[in-house]
Amino acid sequence: MAKRNIVLIVGASRGLGLALAEEYCARDFHVIATVRSPSAALDRIAARFPASLTIETADITDVRSVEALRQRLAGRTLDTLFVNAGICLARDDTPKDVREQEFLAMMLTNALSPMRVVELFEHQVSRNGVIAVMSSELGSIAHNPGAWELYSSSKAALNMLMACFSKRYAGDSRALLLVAPGWVRTEMGTDAAALSIEESIPHVVAAVEAQAGRPGLRFIDRHGKTLPW
Ligand SMILES: NC(=O)c1ccc[n+]([C@@H]2O[C@H](COP(=O)([O-])OP(=O)(O)OC[C@H]3O[C@@H](n4cnc5c(N)ncnc54)[C@H](OP(=O)(O)O)[C@@H]3O)[C@@H](O)[C@H]2O)c1
Repeated sequence: MAKRNIVLIVGASRGLGLALAEEYCARDFHVIATVRSPSAALDRIAARFPASLTIETADITDVRSVEALRQRLAGRTLDTLFVNAGICLARDDTPKDVREQEFLAMMLTNALSPMRVVELFEHQVSRNGVIAVMSSELGSIAHNPGAWELYSSSKAALNMLMACFSKRYAGDSRALLLVAPGWVRTEMGTDAAALSIEESIPHVVAAVEAQAGRPGLRFIDRHGKTLPW
């Protein structure tokens, strides 16, 4: 029997992460999907794909929680690691009016913590596997029109940390991806966003999986097109 690919999706309770879990199940991956607290929506996907989906718990800002997840998953080889979790606070604020705690929370959740997950799990990702982190078009310094500036700066910081990781792991055989899903209607994206989840996530998964076996760092959109830093 052919071996099923395994994906670990970090942050899958709702929104894009929930849709990633469903899409990978539909593609017959074995999916390990994390939540911070129970998600009825993810439970419903688990009921539809009982042989495919395992639900785990982790808060990426709590290093002990991530370490505990690593211990529970010790010995599992991942084909894809996809860190999706993120937050957007103080969307329309500027450096002069943002509450420091909100800016720090975004830097912790969107930049440091995803990369800490990558650092802690990279040794479990197969040699021809994929390490993907959900970034944003807004994290592109070249393309950002001046929108959501504090959130955007946390995604630019994420991109820098992943670029530095790729330098430390020069010659690594895995694909290292920063993924921009487009502006999508979720709690974070709001109803004003251009895309439905269905118009983004199936493309995101196809683009990410098309990168398997292609070593090196790339910042890509949902169609796999390279974005400017
Ligand atoms: N929607 C867009 O237009 C868009 C565009 C570009 C990039 N993105 C990025 O895509 C990712 C998902 O966004 P979304 O639109 O789906 O947002 P969302 O609907 O607000 O969902 C955010 C997800 O992240 C999880 N999360 C937040 N903090 C966490 C933590 N400390 N530990 C573990 N999980 C945590 C949430 O879990 P809880 O349910 O426990 O809060 C939830 O599952 C984010 O990284 C976001 O920045 C979104």
